[in-house]
Order: sequence, then structure tokens, then C-alpha cells
Amino acid sequence: MTLAAHDVLAFDVYGTLVDTGGVVDRLTAVVGDRAGAFSDAWRQQQLGYSWRRALMRDYVDFGTCTAQALDHTAAVFGTTLGEEDRSNLLATYRRLPAFPDVAPALARLAGEGRRTVAFSNGPVAAADELLVAAGVRDHLSDVVSTDEIRSFKPDPAVYHHLLERVATVADRVVLVSSNSFDVLGAKRAGLQAAWVRRTEAAVLDPWGVAPDATVTDLTQLVGA
Ligand code: 2OP
Repeated sequence: MTLAAHDVLAFDVYGTLVDTGGVVDRLTAVVGDRAGAFSDAWRQQQLGYSWRRALMRDYVDFGTCTAQALDHTAAVFGTTLGEEDRSNLLATYRRLPAFPDVAPALARLAGEGRRTVAFSNGPVAAADELLVAAGVRDHLSDVVSTDEIRSFKPDPAVYHHLLERVATVADRVVLVSSNSFDVLGAKRAGLQAAWVRRTEAAVLDPWGVAPDATVTDLTQLVGA
């Protein structure tokens, strides 16, 4: 697997560097064996809110999307969240674990002299806190956020913002993401894209747009 020549690898954060399933243990105490389904529904609602907010030009930050999605998901699951559970779940979401391949892969990429940045819907301070807690911030040269222009992926404007922040033209930047909509958004904006297919169950949206590379973990980007 070889990518075309590039100057920057831009890593999506939630679902790519850190595992949004990291809330399942804490959710188990609240909703028992429905924790996995609750976690998936919460994540989908969070993303759905971000897309609608971007489309409606009614911006709130990603943390607010996450909190409002939690409240909605709890209502759908018929669960009354006490203030302590709610606050603990949101605190857990701010300290999600990195996937095991991330730190070694980023360290090896840095060793190759590659320029790596994080690129997230999360505001810079929140993404920084998350990546520091996950033990991977030191391997990244910068954190770029869609919050800086008050929109969300996959608004084309956020990919153009990334290009401005890294001061590089589109085809010299590779967006690395496990999120299909992010891969398609980056390709639509002219960037290269590597899709991180962490599980066999992950399916790319059938829009006739292929990623430039598909990997199952980030170490496969070393030397690519
Ligand atoms: C991120 O921007 C989309 O959740 C994803 O980190």
C-alpha cells in the first residue's frame, strides 16, 4: 500500500485515534447489557447532531452535541440518568482510551520524519486534553479543529480550513480516518484519504468514491 507523495498526515480523532467504545464499561453500570447498543446509538446521535448543526448553521461545540446526544439516547432507551451518572459519563468521554496501535504507529511515523496532526470536530482544548490523557499528544505536531471555523465534518469548508492551517495544497495532505463520511468529505475537497477499517463489519458508503488506501490499523501507514 503506497500513498501518493504527501507532506502531512491528518488524523481524525474520535473512532480513529481514540475508541468511542471506551464508555461501555461505565455505561454497563447504568444500562446493563444494553451498554454496547447505547454507546453506538449515542455516537450516531452525536454525529447526526453535528451534521444537522452544520447544515442549519446553528453551531454549538462538539461537547454540547455529545451531551445533548447522551440525553436523547437515554430518553430513547427509557433510562433516567441521575446527575452523577450523566456527569461521570461525559467525563469518561473526555478521557477515552487510544486504540493500542496508535502510540506505536505515531512514534514510528515521527521517527520517519513524517508530519502528523490531529484533525477533529472537538475544540482544540478538548482534543488536546483527550489526546494527552490517551498518551498520544506528544507524537502529533499540532491539533486542528473544525471549531475554529464553527462547523463540522464533512462541510467542505473544514477541510479547506485544515489545508490553511497546515499551509499545504490539497493533494499533499492525507486525511486518515475510520469514519466513512470523513473519508468521503476529504476526497470531495481534493485531499488524499486513507480509510482505517478497524473491523470487518465497517462498510464504506457506496457513493462511488474510493479511498487512496485502506488499512486495518495505523502501523500500516509506516513506510507508506
Ligand atoms: C472527529 O472529528 C468525526 O468524531 C470525529 O474526531
